[in-house]
Amino acid sequence: MVAAQLLVLFMWCLKTQVIGLRLHIMKDIYLIFLLMILFQGYTVADGKAHSSDSIAGHSEVERWYTPLHLQSGERLYKKHCIVCHNTDARGTLDWKKTRANGDYPPPPLNGSAHAWHHDLSTLTQTIQDGGVPLGGVMPAFRSQLTNNEILAVIAYFQNFWSDDIYASWLELGGRE
Ligand code: HEC
Repeated sequence: MVAAQLLVLFMWCLKTQVIGLRLHIMKDIYLIFLLMILFQGYTVADGKAHSSDSIAGHSEVERWYTPLHLQSGERLYKKHCIVCHNTDARGTLDWKKTRANGDYPPPPLNGSAHAWHHDLSTLTQTIQDGGVPLGGVMPAFRSQLTNNEILAVIAYFQNFWSDDIYASWLELGGRE
C-alpha cells in the first residue's frame, strides 16, 4: 500500500519533469498529503497495539508465584490450615461474629476478608507467630513450616483471589 503510493509519487515526479511542467507547489501538496496518510496509518496501528495491551493487562494480572508454589502450597494447606480455614480457604461463614467465648472464628483467606490488606512479610509473620500475641487463637507455625513453605501456602490461598483483589493488594505494596 505504502510502496504503491511511493511508486505513484515517483512516476508523477518523472512525468512532470519529462513534460517540463513547473508544478512544484502541486508536488509539495502531494507530498504533504502522502505524509499525512502515512502518519495516520502509524497512529491507528499504535492505538490498536495499546488498546489490546491494556485489555490483556486487565484480564490477567501477573502473579508472583509459580505452579510449583501452588502444588506444595495445596498439600501444606490441607495438612495444616484447612481444619480451620475451610476448603478453598473459604473460612467460617459468620467469621465477623465473635463466638460465645469471645474468640473470632477463622476468617476466609480467599480474598473476601482482610488477608489482602497485608503484605507478604506481614502474612508470613502472622503464620509464623499465629494470633496469640495479638489476643487471637490461631496457633503459631514457626516451628512446623519453613519460610518457603509459608510462601507456598500464601500462594495457594492467594490463587483464590480475583485479579481485582490481587491488583489492589499489589497497589497497597503487597510485594514490598
Ligand atoms: C486452630 C485454627 C487455625 C489454624 C489451624 C490456622 N488458622 Fe489461621 N487463623 C485462625 C483464626 C481464629 C484467625 C483470626 C485471628 C486469630 O484469632 O488468631 C486466623 C487468622 C489467619 C490469618 C490472618 C487473616 C486476616 O484476615 O488478617 C492468616 C493469614 C491465617 N490465619 C493463615 C493461616 C494459615 C496459612 C494456616 C495454616 C498454615 C492457618 N492460618 C492455620 C485459626 C486458624
